[in-house]
Amino acid sequence: MVSFKKDFVFGVATSSYQIEGAAAEDGRTPSIWDTFCRTPGNVYEGQTGDIACDDYHRYREDVGILRGLGVDSYRFSISWSRVFPAYGVYNPKGMEFYKNLIRELKQNGIEPMVTLYHWDLPMWAYERGGWLNRESVTWFKEYATKVFEELNDSVKSWITHNEPFCASILGYDLGIHAPGHKNLGEALIAAHHILLSHGVAVEAFRECGLKDSKIGITLNLTPSYPASNSKEDVEAASRSDGLSNRWFLDPVFRSSYPEDMKEALGRFAGGFDFIKDGDLQTISARNDFLGVNYYTRVQTKFVQDSGLNYQDVQGNLKKNVTAMGWEICPEALYDLVLRLRREYTRVPIYITENGAAFDDVLSQGKRVHDTERIDYIKGHLRKIAGANEQGADVRGYYLWSLLDNFEWAYGYSKKFGIVHVDFETQERSLKDSALWYRDTISSRTIE
Ligand code: FCB
Repeated sequence: MVSFKKDFVFGVATSSYQIEGAAAEDGRTPSIWDTFCRTPGNVYEGQTGDIACDDYHRYREDVGILRGLGVDSYRFSISWSRVFPAYGVYNPKGMEFYKNLIRELKQNGIEPMVTLYHWDLPMWAYERGGWLNRESVTWFKEYATKVFEELNDSVKSWITHNEPFCASILGYDLGIHAPGHKNLGEALIAAHHILLSHGVAVEAFRECGLKDSKIGITLNLTPSYPASNSKEDVEAASRSDGLSNRWFLDPVFRSSYPEDMKEALGRFAGGFDFIKDGDLQTISARNDFLGVNYYTRVQTKFVQDSGLNYQDVQGNLKKNVTAMGWEICPEALYDLVLRLRREYTRVPIYITENGAAFDDVLSQGKRVHDTERIDYIKGHLRKIAGANEQGADVRGYYLWSLLDNFEWAYGYSKKFGIVHVDFETQERSLKDSALWYRDTISSRTIE
């Protein structure tokens, strides 16, 4: 049996575009995701986040569910174009939604954890060059500062960015996320400006003097293991790790980009003159904590015919796999956390996302017997407890996700929720995993 300290934070996570809906209400204007969804072929069956879980209108019901689960904290994100629908234009009506949500959470004894950017860049910013334009850093600073001022000390935990890797590499290089560009050089510029805007937002936060509140960044970290012991595969795994993990961890915690990756990427990127003097100093501004999103690991092998000469292959798929085709490997989370301690930082860690999609079946009685999901969560929580026994100082766990929701390019076809949503009626039904999580939170133990 493993147990968690009384002050270990148990939470669930969501993001604005994935659940809110109300895409054109109360002054909200489109983000790059609204646009991306409208290009045929980008998203499963042309689905969009126009309505999603309709949480914008049903947030009271959703907070009621959170209360029933007994979570300590709820992680959600703010839609930038709801609060700044046009360049330089603030929309109090959009902000009101978040104030109401936070009030509702507090009345139910739940602490908000607020993410400023979970990928929904306003179209007005994209039309001015988006993350490729260095001015995006200033736009983000203005947005962040306004949110800090308005929400002030009602929020004790802030996250600047969610997964800069996905926002830059998936969005600007692989083209599978908004804005759908396919250019590695652009992706590196976007990544740099996103990281820089993180540092600038941290500085702005410190200036606001919110002394009892904490700020950090959330990185998605995907450990790469060599597919064999061959020198080629070992080096290939190091490059995969270099792009997915070190390219983001090093600037934030070491004030530098990894030299080996600069060399490897230099051939495609057309130089690094977008990195200006002082940038890395700013990017490595002190964080109060690190948010880690972990879902799976990869195994990597050398291949001739890819830019960086590596290919990530999923590991033991016969044994254990989610509906995303991701290997279930809690051990890699354990290794990852201890590595972060060894190589990068001593600041507290929060697992800001972890969870799994499965092909759930809703029974006549509106039950979902999702034992695989329970096993997934249990396995990862066990490893977190184990890492903490080694002194890892993981302070909390946010399960992805509260609700089945708009899973980006997969639309509504992939279900990560511990609460089932019927997208015809918007009816919510607690899955077995929700009931299990509720009991785990109340006992703070796993058998
Ligand atoms: C993460 C995202 C989150 C969700 C999960 C499954 O990369 O941050 O929005 O899509 O994956």
